[in-house]
Amino acid sequence: MLETRVTKLLGIRDPILQGGMAWISRAELVAAVSEAGGLGVLASGTLRPSELKDELRKVRAATSKPFAVNVSLVPAHPDADAKTAALLTDIALDEGVRIFTISAGSPTVLTDKLKQRGAVVIHVVPSARLAKKAEAAGVDAVVAEGYEAGGHVGHDEHTSVVLWPSAVRAVKIPVIAAGGIADGAGMAAALAFGAEGVQIGTRFIATTECNAHASFKQRIVDAPETPTVVYCKSTHPGRALGTPVVERLVALEKGGAGALELEQLRGRGRSRAGCVDGDLAEGILPCGAAAGLVTRVVSVAELMRELVEGYQAAKGRMP
Ligand SMILES: Cc1cc2nc3c(=O)[nH]c(=O)nc-3n(C[C@H](O)[C@H](O)[C@H](O)COP(=O)(O)O)c2cc1C
Repeated sequence: MLETRVTKLLGIRDPILQGGMAWISRAELVAAVSEAGGLGVLASGTLRPSELKDELRKVRAATSKPFAVNVSLVPAHPDADAKTAALLTDIALDEGVRIFTISAGSPTVLTDKLKQRGAVVIHVVPSARLAKKAEAAGVDAVVAEGYEAGGHVGHDEHTSVVLWPSAVRAVKIPVIAAGGIADGAGMAAALAFGAEGVQIGTRFIATTECNAHASFKQRIVDAPETPTVVYCKSTHPGRALGTPVVERLVALEKGGAGALELEQLRGRGRSRAGCVDGDLAEGILPCGAAAGLVTRVVSVAELMRELVEGYQAAKGRMP
């Protein structure tokens, strides 16, 4: 038991959130994380409204512990439009969800509505400046996500070791550290900087309960020390493993391609093709720099144990 303001706010045993991950943080993973004492986070952005309801029922059937829904303000599903985030949020609220993580947009969009309905709101930010803005909008906590993270990353390129303490200094609400954490030592570092919890994405992909394709998990396990690249820096930067299509995107951008050309090649179906179907040639595998620290696929329960024990061991190693 590792009590912080984050564990109290969320009603969880250990201050570990599994980050919402487009296409691959579905009911089985979410329920397993919550059952193991953390907070499972269901990514809603790549679900159709009816699928969201089904997934919520599956999570509830598997655990009675708290869990959250992630709402990405940028449409992620190929069928989604600008109104989809609000629709998914309403469905989750009506289904009784009371913890939300909101990302990729302004904290003013959904916070009031969520607070009025009694929900806990956590906003994901890439800078201390935006952490302050989220605090002013009334959120309960922020996830300060450094440039090492998998998936969308900030234009400002703030890396975790500088971002985390900057965010802690900037706001009074609790800060949850994300970006590059794959083990207990990373968690100890984040808490040493004053964060009161961690959010982990990439490490949770290489678990048995994650629905990511086996070849994606294997690419993470086999990843070299610096396995990822950031592509589409001039539009919506994303960090992913270096698959052929990502390399094409990087080359296109270096050659001076404009936003339209880049976004056309990136498409919206490519992450699904990579993450779920295992299409390593035409798909995109969003993934954090911490893939270089992952050496095996384990169960969520084992990973949660390793994180907490690794955290204790790291504290013990301090001079
Ligand atoms: C495959 C993948 C998909 C992601 N999709 C989302 C998403 O839909 N919404 C979101 O807020 N964050 C998303 N993220 C970010 C994670 O929630 C988390 O903050 C991030 O992975 C933390 O950094 P790490 O990968 O170094 O652990 C995604 C990350 C990955 C690796």
